Amino acid sequence: MSKAVRIDRHGGPEEMKIVEVTVGEPGPGEIRIRHKAVGLNFIDVYQRSGVYQLPMPLSLGMEASGVVEAVGAGVTHLKAGDRAAYASQPPGSYCEVRVMPAKCVCKLPDAIDFDTGAAMMLKGLTAQYLLKKTLPQGGLAKGDFVLFHAAAGGVGLIACQWAKALGLQLIGTAGSDQKCALAKELGAAHVINYSKEDFLPRVKEITGGKGVKVVYDSVGKDTWDKSLDCLQPFGLMASFGNSSGPPTPFAPGILGAKGSLYVTRQTLFTHISSRESTQAMADDLFEAVTSGKVKIRIDQRYPLEQVQQAHRDLEARKTTGCTVLTL
Ligand SMILES: NC(=O)c1ccc[n+]([C@@H]2O[C@H](COP(=O)([O-])OP(=O)(O)OC[C@H]3O[C@@H](n4cnc5c(N)ncnc54)[C@H](OP(=O)(O)O)[C@@H]3O)[C@@H](O)[C@H]2O)c1
Repeated sequence: MSKAVRIDRHGGPEEMKIVEVTVGEPGPGEIRIRHKAVGLNFIDVYQRSGVYQLPMPLSLGMEASGVVEAVGAGVTHLKAGDRAAYASQPPGSYCEVRVMPAKCVCKLPDAIDFDTGAAMMLKGLTAQYLLKKTLPQGGLAKGDFVLFHAAAGGVGLIACQWAKALGLQLIGTAGSDQKCALAKELGAAHVINYSKEDFLPRVKEITGGKGVKVVYDSVGKDTWDKSLDCLQPFGLMASFGNSSGPPTPFAPGILGAKGSLYVTRQTLFTHISSRESTQAMADDLFEAVTSGKVKIRIDQRYPLEQVQQAHRDLEARKTTGCTVLTL
């Protein structure tokens, strides 16, 4: 048996209930993992609220760390007793123990503790594919400016550090002076408090009027239009989230008028669709963390029983860095 967080219908945090579920044996390609810690992500909010519609009843959560208890037929990269961590579909990581596909589960290096492992997989692999694989034409070179919205959040603080290690000048936006100070401390070259300052003229000022080569935008509705205007000709608008709501639909002609821009909407789950790509990205992330280039900040911890409060705080923009649900 395991405690697990379930919803029976989309709605507010109050829809999340802790239930007891039976956990069986892993089938072919699956493992059973006993969690040590669970990661909280903004995608959990979309899945709970119905921004992303999913079949009911729904177990929530996409990220965790723990110890492998049993492996099914055909699983060769893990064995019982291994420390492991993952970002993975299907949802269901808000629980003590579960059976799940093994494909996206990676052995956790001894140097990385369970809380860090639970906090870093979904957010760290996202920062990895954004900064290493979601690039403007011709790529990015040392000294290039990139604009990264919500820079003091979970993905954001990892990106600030990794961008600095890559020699990029990350311009980070955040919703308070405290959050801006944190993003700067962790590697943002410039910060803008977009709750009280218009980020477009500031980006133009910082870049000497040229604009940035790429915008990484997970805020969506509130930042979309001005972000396009922050780009250099042929620049890349990389959308990867919608914390303020989905961007307003637009006519492609606007991209020509604004300088032959490129637009992409990325999701981690395309990047981790195979065991090989998941492991290659995880190895890069593990190296960044164990070498000290990227430190995983866990700024909030909540017992699993307080998952409703964790969601309320994340949605109310009260959190910084990563959040872990403890078991
Ligand atoms: N596509 C993918 O592969 C992928 C993977 C991982 C995450 N994501 C996306 O990346 C974003 C960051 O994820 P995360 O888990 O690390 O969350 P997070 O950044 O820790 O939290 C979201 C942040 O968004 C900002 N925000 C701006 N407007 C908001 C609004 N109206 N309501 C709530 N928040 C607002 C807030 O920061 P400020 O107060 O500083 O504005 C808030 O702290 C999310 O949009 C998430 O869906 C996408």
